[in-house]
Amino acid sequence: MSTTILAIESSCDDTSAAVIRDGILLSNVTASQKVHEMYGGVVPELASRAHQQNIVPVVDAALKKAGVSKEELSAIAVTLGPGLMGSLLVGVSFAKGLAISLGIPLIEANHLQGHILAHFIHAPEEPVNDPPYPFLCLLVSGGNSQIVKVSAYNKMEILGQTIDDAAGEAIDKCSKVMGLGYPGGPIIDRLAREGNPKAFQFAKPNIPGMNYSFSGLKTSFLYFLRDKIKENPQFIEENKCDLAASLEATIVDILMKKLKMAVKETGITHVALSGGVSANTGLRQAFKNMEKSGRWKIYIPKFSYTTDNAAMIAITGYYKFLDGEYCPLSKPAYSRTVL
Ligand code: KG4
Repeated sequence: MSTTILAIESSCDDTSAAVIRDGILLSNVTASQKVHEMYGGVVPELASRAHQQNIVPVVDAALKKAGVSKEELSAIAVTLGPGLMGSLLVGVSFAKGLAISLGIPLIEANHLQGHILAHFIHAPEEPVNDPPYPFLCLLVSGGNSQIVKVSAYNKMEILGQTIDDAAGEAIDKCSKVMGLGYPGGPIIDRLAREGNPKAFQFAKPNIPGMNYSFSGLKTSFLYFLRDKIKENPQFIEENKCDLAASLEATIVDILMKKLKMAVKETGITHVALSGGVSANTGLRQAFKNMEKSGRWKIYIPKFSYTTDNAAMIAITGYYKFLDGEYCPLSKPAYSRTVL
């Protein structure tokens, strides 16, 4: 008998549902929320309201696209945390209700574990490139910057992580200060392609071990702009490509320095990239350069599996289902956690 799982992800501002059958992804449908753009960041209350509007049509579309009826489902997997509590509650309540009504088990997924397991998503006609265990994963998103040693799907150890802002958060905030749109990552990336990465120097952190820090960079960027604007009010407009390129280069340098340290200390040379910031051209190039040098074997998932999506929750749910790891219906959503 086949195993068919519906997965739901609603931890931040994307409502996503996916269907997986016997480890093969059949659908992955995501509704992004445009409502936050005018505020320059995710507004939690608006996010949960948008999830409420989106959840039924998104789940319905995922089932239809997969050609699967509710009655064929073996289990429901859902992101229980971490994330915005109001957002999580929409997906978790929906998943619990559906599991009860269908009389099937509920499986919980950790959002960060999902981002890492995105490397194991298999879909028809997509190339397979699973990293072998153990591998290192640089998980960089709007909310997290971590170096994780992955020894099994359910055995992950954080070797280093940010002690303040995440890399994506720093990019988004610097972009906001420059008067660019939200989210800043894709805009900075586009502008950086036209700029000189060596045009400006910004502060780099000096944090011991494999931890990261991005708040100093953010502050130094802010003061740098303030001083420059005093001299020339048009400074940002005239230099936005160079500013974007220099900011991107600094962030990539900071990320890669600690990652190289992790490779050296663990001796693990299979290195994966996950999370929304992995879409960044400069970061991808830095990974490719390490592979070209013959030192690393790299793993970068398809773009649609790097941002928030339910396909990564589906593969997590599938592995847990095979191990009979179900979640009690009484277990609540959680906003904060480590892996
Ligand atoms: O993983 P994600 O979709 O959401 C969570 O934080 O969970 O990551 C979103 C982050 C945002 O900070 C966004 O600006 C950043 O990923 N991002 C990028 C790029 N595309 C998205 N950062 C740099 N370059 C990009 N091309």
